[in-house]
Amino acid sequence: MEHIDLCKIRRGDYVGKKVAVCGWVRTSRDSKNVAFVELNDGSELNHIQVVFEKADFDAHTLDGVLNLGAAISVVGKVENGLKAESVEIRAEKVELLGASDPSYPLQKKRHTMEYLRTIPHLRVRTNTFNAVFRVRSELSYAIHKFFHDNGYYYVHSPIITGSDCEGAGEVFKVTTVGFDKTVKSEDEYNAKDFFGRPAGLTVSGQLEGEVMATALGKIYTFGPTFRAENSNTPRHAAEFWQIEPEVAFADINDIIGIATDMIKSIIGHVMDNCRPELEFFDARFENGLIAKLQNVVDSEFARVDYTDAIEILKKSGKTFVYPVEWGLDLQTEHERYLTDEYFKKPVFVVNYPRKIKSFYMKKNPDGKTVAATDLLVPGVGEIIGCSERENDYDKLLAEIKARGMKLSDYENYLDLRKYGSVPHSGFGLGLERIMMYITGMSNIRDTIEFPRTKDELR
Ligand code: 4AD
Ligand code: MG
Repeated sequence: MEHIDLCKIRRGDYVGKKVAVCGWVRTSRDSKNVAFVELNDGSELNHIQVVFEKADFDAHTLDGVLNLGAAISVVGKVENGLKAESVEIRAEKVELLGASDPSYPLQKKRHTMEYLRTIPHLRVRTNTFNAVFRVRSELSYAIHKFFHDNGYYYVHSPIITGSDCEGAGEVFKVTTVGFDKTVKSEDEYNAKDFFGRPAGLTVSGQLEGEVMATALGKIYTFGPTFRAENSNTPRHAAEFWQIEPEVAFADINDIIGIATDMIKSIIGHVMDNCRPELEFFDARFENGLIAKLQNVVDSEFARVDYTDAIEILKKSGKTFVYPVEWGLDLQTEHERYLTDEYFKKPVFVVNYPRKIKSFYMKKNPDGKTVAATDLLVPGVGEIIGCSERENDYDKLLAEIKARGMKLSDYENYLDLRKYGSVPHSGFGLGLERIMMYITGMSNIRDTIEFPRTKDELR
């Protein structure tokens, strides 16, 4: 069907010209002689008003055309609208492409986010989710662009894996074997299974990313990762997208610099390309959002040693649910104090205790801490987990053994330390976490099309 995107009409020189457009009816008004439809085709946040002079149409032509949610095509002339710089279309022909039943759940009122989550197939037709997913698309493009422009290769790590990168026991099982009374042991069960061994959905593409980086130099992954997080929080999803660059010959300070550049670059890109969406979020969801983002682009990120962060928390005078002492895995409440109240901007917390972090992180000379950092941001908490990797064969082997991990699952990974091992570092950025930060959405479920969380799969 030949037609033009609505966004082009507003931006181009169309006044006085005849156009064909398609879209869905967002709102409508009907009076004796004239009817109005606010039409949206997804090409931009704004709607275009279509005016129907009833005298121009036969008796039943407009039947169903004014129903909320109806899909229509219109041929008409573009005219200047009443509001400055606005245009509208004066309809000459209209066709009802898809009628919308009056039970359409998105009526002309502001629905709660909770209600909208119950209709994931329709919520994208609201202004809010239309804007969220337009930003998500543009942000994804910005991420690819940043890495592409800086000489990184985009690699694809497997979704099905046989190892648990984070060792947190949150791996979803992948199996084709159902309940079977005759099976006597776990080994027997595994032997019967598709791969003849336990398999799961990846929690991170890092281990394979390291393989690729030790040949291609600079790589990144960008794909879905899965965690059976048993917690029901506003910032954890069971399926989320992660961007994981891995860089050969980079130490912890190099990778912190890369992460900083990337965050500034991608936020700057979204600010340049999604202005109407950000203005919408600023007005409806987080006052001051645009100023906050501008500040991220313009100013230095803070950096604090984990040990100093613990002192800051101790001196805060706050009563935390989880008491503060060295060795503590920072909880949301601690992260929020550090970012929202103390630093008031993004902060890298560096050199975490070895015991609370993953096996692959490089041990610092003090023996107690690792060269790892999390980037925490106000309002959200951790958006990046980052580290220099242990590149010494013996130290890595000792760590794998000490943690009781199954050595045979990590032999290839250890080989990287046997053949041309180099210092290397990487990080994981949670796409939905940075979406929360950029859009002001306070719940991760509202940043991904089809959220998967504990007991929720629609
Ligand atoms: O800190 P994490 O666990 O780090 C890793 O997975 C490393 N392998 C990354 C690397 O070095 N290549 O996770 C990285 C990021 C977190 O900072 C957070 O933004 C996001 O992934 N994330 C989640 N996002 C949504 N829901 C969850 N359940 C998440 N778990 C982690
Ligand atoms: Mg982490």
